[in-house]
Amino acid sequence: MGEIGVFASIVAGDTFKYYSEGEWRVSSSGKSVPIINPTTRKTQFEVQACTQDEVNKVMESAKIAQKSWAKTPLWKRAELLHKAAAILKDHKKPIAECLVKEIAKPAKDAATEVVRSGDLVSYCAEEGVRILGEGKFLMSDSFPGNERTKYCLTSKIPLGVVLAIPPFNYPVNLAVSKIAPALIAGNSLVLKPPTQGAVSALHMVHCFHLAGFPKGVISCITGKGSEIGDFLTMHPIVNCISFTGGDTGIAIAKKVSMIPLQMELGGKDACIILEDADLDLAASNIVKGGFSYSGQRCTAVKVVLVMESVADILVKKVNEKVGKLTVGPPENDCDITPVVTESSANFIEGLVMDAKKKGATFCQEYKREGNLIWPLLLDNVKQDMRIAWEEPFGPVLPIIRISNVEEGIHHCNASNFGLQGCVFTKDINKAMLISDAMETGTVQINSAPARGPDHFPFQGLKDSGIGSQGVTNSINMMTKIKSTVINLPTPSYTMG
Ligand code: G3H
Repeated sequence: MGEIGVFASIVAGDTFKYYSEGEWRVSSSGKSVPIINPTTRKTQFEVQACTQDEVNKVMESAKIAQKSWAKTPLWKRAELLHKAAAILKDHKKPIAECLVKEIAKPAKDAATEVVRSGDLVSYCAEEGVRILGEGKFLMSDSFPGNERTKYCLTSKIPLGVVLAIPPFNYPVNLAVSKIAPALIAGNSLVLKPPTQGAVSALHMVHCFHLAGFPKGVISCITGKGSEIGDFLTMHPIVNCISFTGGDTGIAIAKKVSMIPLQMELGGKDACIILEDADLDLAASNIVKGGFSYSGQRCTAVKVVLVMESVADILVKKVNEKVGKLTVGPPENDCDITPVVTESSANFIEGLVMDAKKKGATFCQEYKREGNLIWPLLLDNVKQDMRIAWEEPFGPVLPIIRISNVEEGIHHCNASNFGLQGCVFTKDINKAMLISDAMETGTVQINSAPARGPDHFPFQGLKDSGIGSQGVTNSINMMTKIKSTVINLPTPSYTMG
């Protein structure tokens, strides 16, 4: 139930409250949403099932609060963010415990997520002070036909109310990656956390509350997507949406009005292995990239495309490492933990069975207990298998053997996703050419795909998303340019 004491005010009985107008509240619906522990498959927590009226109240207070928040000096906004970051890191333990219970994140990774989040908030405060503190000055006579009579001053101003919808796999980190840029830029922020992960997110929001943010500047609404999802995303007060998740993002993009969108919607990150690759390095990265947090990362390695001539050696090396992965509960800090829901486990199983039926080579025996799926490497995967194209979001990894590089690039580019990709080779010239040819937002050379460090640009092409993230890009995306033009009198006289 989280840490009694500092977090006591965020819970009523067995149900966590939502955060509106600077206070922790109980929904008038009298209903709650259960959060199922992926390991025990029993209800672990409950959160408020908020109503549309409560969404309206949150939005209205966010709109009012934003006006004065935007006028709060930038250095003061930064100061509050630094304070929230410190409080967040101080409460790493209870928040990490929630992550373990809600989303079965291995204990060490859960603690890392909280610390990384605090660092992200602080970095964002510093970067915001730098990039929002400066503008541009343009002279009119640089454009043909103009005299030196117009001075244009530009600065960045906030968008208004930003709606943040993070995913279950990083309910704290991917929430603050939206919250911190929005707030430093002078926006107010409404958070709709994922159901699995909501309690961790509510704890994180309480750290912002403790830091002393003015009421309405940050709010957090919980509830069923089916009841308040569209209502939130189509709300007229919302001026920007930052969403990370699955293809719900595509549906949101089709429904919303003319507002800026930042979306990250998953990937089928390919790992291309050339003949000259350091195969030990490649194998370590494939296992880390493919199986950390049981493959439930948008940047996980989701298909290995290996040159046939080195495939046997690579598969052997990867198999040795897969055999050493520990499998079990997140509390024991196992490498492979239960996937987030039973329906996810069923989906993964569907992909595995399809591959089996169509003749893939199973390097390990397929094993599942409840939501726990043992790590599985599928060799000799062919183009007609679903797993060659779909994103399992689980600890199963397909290997496709290729006879030339073009085949690998073609497979990568034929995907409807385009998040990240990676290539292993000792030839930097080849690596650069392959990077150029891969239709993905990022290509990693000699390392597995990854979003971090969190200030790096992070973007997906095609169905993987809209816009670019990373601290600087997010701050810029959550602002608009305002110009003021000083018009001097027509030069009927000259000075000097
Ligand atoms: O799941 C999507 C995340 O953005 C991946 O982040 O590369 O740090 O695991 P990560």
